[in-house]
Amino acid sequence: MSDVIKIFDTTLRDGEQSPGCSMNLSEKIEMAKQLERLNVDIIEAGFAIASPGDFESVRTIAETVTNPTVASLSRTTKKDIQTAWDAVKYAKHPRIHTFIATSPLHMEYKLQMSPEAVLNAVAEHVRFASSLCDDVEFSAEDATRSEWDFLAKVTEVAIANGATTVNIPDTVGYTTPDEMYNLMRYLKEHVKGIDDITLSTHNHNDLGLAVANTIAAIRGGVTQVECTINGIGERAGNAALEEIVMALETRKDYFGFTTNIDKKQIYRSSKLLSRMIGVFPAPNKAIVGKNAFAHESGVHQHGVMANRGTYEIMTPESIGLNQNTMVLGKHSGRHAFAERLESLGIVLEPEQIDAAFAQFKILADKKKTVSDRDIEALVGSERGTIDETYELESFVVNSGTVIDGTATIVVKKDGEILKQTAMGEGQIEAAFAAINAICGMEPELMDYNIFSVSEGGDAQGEGTVKLKYNGYKATGTGVSVDIIEASIRAYLNGINKLIYAMNRNK
Ligand code: KIV
Ligand code: ZN
Repeated sequence: MSDVIKIFDTTLRDGEQSPGCSMNLSEKIEMAKQLERLNVDIIEAGFAIASPGDFESVRTIAETVTNPTVASLSRTTKKDIQTAWDAVKYAKHPRIHTFIATSPLHMEYKLQMSPEAVLNAVAEHVRFASSLCDDVEFSAEDATRSEWDFLAKVTEVAIANGATTVNIPDTVGYTTPDEMYNLMRYLKEHVKGIDDITLSTHNHNDLGLAVANTIAAIRGGVTQVECTINGIGERAGNAALEEIVMALETRKDYFGFTTNIDKKQIYRSSKLLSRMIGVFPAPNKAIVGKNAFAHESGVHQHGVMANRGTYEIMTPESIGLNQNTMVLGKHSGRHAFAERLESLGIVLEPEQIDAAFAQFKILADKKKTVSDRDIEALVGSERGTIDETYELESFVVNSGTVIDGTATIVVKKDGEILKQTAMGEGQIEAAFAAINAICGMEPELMDYNIFSVSEGGDAQGEGTVKLKYNGYKATGTGVSVDIIEASIRAYLNGINKLIYAMNRNK
């Protein structure tokens, strides 16, 4: 049995397909590059046949990353499999991932296929996939509610027809750790050829057991686990990558397994994803929640000061959460700024560093000290993932208990200055209405949040909006020490992303 567990990241497929988590092409590429830095073994880049946009993002990711294997999901039809192959074939290490349901419930009601027909479909389509690609993964959807002897037969047929990985998903998050362990042992004992392929698991979190089930499966013999950053995914999500990796790392004395993950990239990967999709982990979320390394009670603080081990089983630094107390200020130069970016694991092109440094100087003029969290927020929002159609020039807002909100917004588009004034119930409504008037669009505001990036009265606010327009969705973000400005920037960023998405599909 291998000591190294392969990490199959499905943030860009199972994660991205869940409500509120969609990303545009440039965000997916940005995330894929970060997953490569995190050193995941396999990136599931999408479901190529789902739409032309999905196809393009799988293909572009396949062309962009070098080290990880790039997989595309496909149902067991020739058209799906061919499309998956057409999208991943440019990858250095391509993989076709094909699946069909094997539980009685799914076979009867969803597929309306007999078990024999499912077995034949597996044989025919895995064979077809392996005629195209050397690396073929087969998944038995709803495996944990399937009859074990039938699941064993399906697995054997998949292996006999060329599957190099067989994945056993707990699609609806129904199983328990003991059951999962026993199922893996059962398959290991009853399936011919199982030791020659990679056995995998994929767990959903409907009962909050996804990570526990994943670890039980590892103990039962799997050597690949499928997971997502921050545990995003269908319904209650997938097993969280950072929890699996840090559980194996922290308790390697007990489990005896490791991964290839560069753990120092965990915090950064989590942050990048949250900012992109505007979905932030709960403060008490293990590993990456805001409070995961915070010690509030006096007794705990006292203990940690005497010896961190009293209340910390892993260090924040181990996941790349820098506890640097050296703050930057307005006298800090580009060199110190670039060094700090590097120590935070933020990789930028030289011109992106210049743009971020210019923003840093503006911020340092408004704020006495600039913390690492400020820098992360600033870089996260400044990172030019798309060409912005509208750029904020200036704004004035007004409101009070006895007057309606009014806002005047000035933006630049192709060098031309555009200005509009609008009214609303408050400043934000007025500002968003003025932007709508400028852009000639009225997107639905599905969600709007403003968070404080760090502590203190001069902390930066980070605004997030989720917009929907003509069937397109976008998440916009913006940061500023002024929360109205952060909101305006977030809204404008959302509009720019909608325009980007619409232009791509022209
Ligand atoms: O949850 C599931 O069963 C899946 C498969 C397609 C792997 O996502
Ligand atoms: Zn899934």
